[in-house]
Amino acid sequence: MKVLLIGSGGREHALAWKIAQSPLLEKLLNVPGNLGTGRFGQNVPFPLNHSEALVDLAQREAIDLAVIGPDNPLADGIVDAFNQGGILAFGPTAAAARIESSKTFAKEIMAEAGVPTARAHSFSDAAQAADFVRSSSQPWVVKADGLALGKGVIVAETVEETLAAIQTLAATPAGEVLLLEERLHGPEVSVLALCDGKRLAALPPARDHKRLRDGNLGPNTGGMGVVAPVDDVSADVLDQIVATCMQPVVDALLRRGAPFCGVLYAGLMLTAQGPRVLEFNARFGDPEAQALLPLIDNDLLAMMRDCAAGNLKPESLKRRKGYAVCVVLAADGYPGKPRKGDQISGVEAVEDNKVLIFHAGTRMGTDGLATDGGRVLGVTGLGATLKQARDRAYETANRIKFTGKQLRSDIGG
Ligand code: AMP
Ligand code: GLY
Repeated sequence: MKVLLIGSGGREHALAWKIAQSPLLEKLLNVPGNLGTGRFGQNVPFPLNHSEALVDLAQREAIDLAVIGPDNPLADGIVDAFNQGGILAFGPTAAAARIESSKTFAKEIMAEAGVPTARAHSFSDAAQAADFVRSSSQPWVVKADGLALGKGVIVAETVEETLAAIQTLAATPAGEVLLLEERLHGPEVSVLALCDGKRLAALPPARDHKRLRDGNLGPNTGGMGVVAPVDDVSADVLDQIVATCMQPVVDALLRRGAPFCGVLYAGLMLTAQGPRVLEFNARFGDPEAQALLPLIDNDLLAMMRDCAAGNLKPESLKRRKGYAVCVVLAADGYPGKPRKGDQISGVEAVEDNKVLIFHAGTRMGTDGLATDGGRVLGVTGLGATLKQARDRAYETANRIKFTGKQLRSDIGG
């Protein structure tokens, strides 16, 4: 198969690594790719917002499957463009990706499908939202409706904080519509599942660490580390989450004529009343993919092709035993203004089948490997136990050096 992989982060390096293990793979083109993806195929520098040109490229190269990593091209309809151009794609159409790109739409689908989630009220006018908060006399979780790079949610502690959060988010491009949501309590977990529009195959439950610093302190980021599987989600609870929170959404989207193909990602809180959905994403998470893909034992490319063809066989998913812990190394200044161009050492002789290093924001300069983005590298340790996986990840993560390196020391316990 000839595969076109879209994206340039650690997630895409992990996808390229996994796709390259498939005996079906003939050729891999990464658009635009990064230093990591370049090891498994050809990187093609190309702007992602020119879908017509991308479809032309796919047709010229006789691509059999396009795999889309990031959220923005999905929301912009890149899969619709591929489909119209006769190219099979793994990823949702813009209509199905609205489950991520509009939180109001996600709430609407969840209500229709009877999915347990926090009570919420939607406002297209910030003043009305503020009036509602004042009359309710209680704090609310404030969410911007649109895609906001993980910065669209403020969990307010007081009425005053809620009012300030409304002001802040209403001033952002994603905040034309705001959601006020009741606050839930409990540990968080993410369940990602491959989907062909009708059926789901769930990957091991994962836990992201969104805050920059240890102890869940500091600003929100795209994710500083992931553990999978998480032991507080038993096989029964995982089945319950798929049956009550995910399958009904897939069914509802199908009924609406917007079947969901790709990765459906449910962000959940395990409350005293049971699992509740906080959000849906329409893609692999990053760094979630860096921990989850090494736990898949079978041919992922074959499964993605089957999803795109509407022909998923969920039983073909084989989970590897053991644990994966991914620790993200971020640049100085991340998540605000990351500094670029710091030299990186220690990446060279550390790879074996127990530790994987995924490139996110790196480049090869005249003086060797250097930082080139917010999240620089992801280090995934694999092990029979959580401790073994964590120790392996940290041994390598601590050996890699660059000025201003930021990492959490509490991923996985
Ligand atoms: P989201 O992007 O909707 O997943 O929200 C980002 C983060 O905000 C989540 O990972 C939670 O930590 C927090 N959060 C979102 N919604 C709620 C809620 N209803 N109650 C408590 N915390 C929430
Ligand atoms: N790590 C969070 C996300 O990819 O959405």
